Amino acid sequence: MSGSIASYKACELVRRLQDMGAAVHCLMTPGAVRFVTPLTFSALSGNPVATDVWDDSLWKMAHLELAEKADLFIIAPISADTLARLAQGNASDIVCATALSTKAPVLLAPAMHEAMWLHPATRENVRKLKGFGYRFVGPDKGPLARGDSGWGRMADVSAILKEARKII
Ligand SMILES: Cc1cc2nc3c(=O)[nH]c(=O)nc-3n(C[C@H](O)[C@H](O)[C@H](O)COP(=O)(O)O)c2cc1C
Repeated sequence: MSGSIASYKACELVRRLQDMGAAVHCLMTPGAVRFVTPLTFSALSGNPVATDVWDDSLWKMAHLELAEKADLFIIAPISADTLARLAQGNASDIVCATALSTKAPVLLAPAMHEAMWLHPATRENVRKLKGFGYRFVGPDKGPLARGDSGWGRMADVSAILKEARKII
């Protein structure tokens, strides 16, 4: 997860992935923990949550161990900021460092305001990430934060699961 108003929907996604039989390990950017607590995701997933590349209390090198463990790496929601870091190959946070280290397919579910989604910088980042072989689901058009409406709404959990199933 990264820091977006859509972060609360990731709780439902964790549950539904488990219903599919998946073991779920959650990773959160420092931005994401401002929206939903790691405790929520550790309670839901039954696994400790990685939030810090420097924390060696749970894994010696979390980004490498979790990268190896993954059959599928989903970032939902992915913010404009995390999209940009990922497109640059930036590994300064646990989500991007693990994405950069994994050989698993990567599925991205963007969530942001329409202006951020349509900005040429984001368009370029999406183009680059598609070029790396990353898959996208959404975003959809619909109600956004602050009562606005437009492109940028995170895809429904059911659409993310459908895409995840297709990839697996
Ligand atoms: C209330 C609130 C809601 C936000 N929602 C989004 C969002 O949906 N998408 C987005 O790209 N940024 C959103 N932001 C801005 C990001 O949280 C900010 O760019 C942050 O640096 C993202 O960091 P991260 O991607 O490392 O988690 C929001 C910020 C606030 C304060």
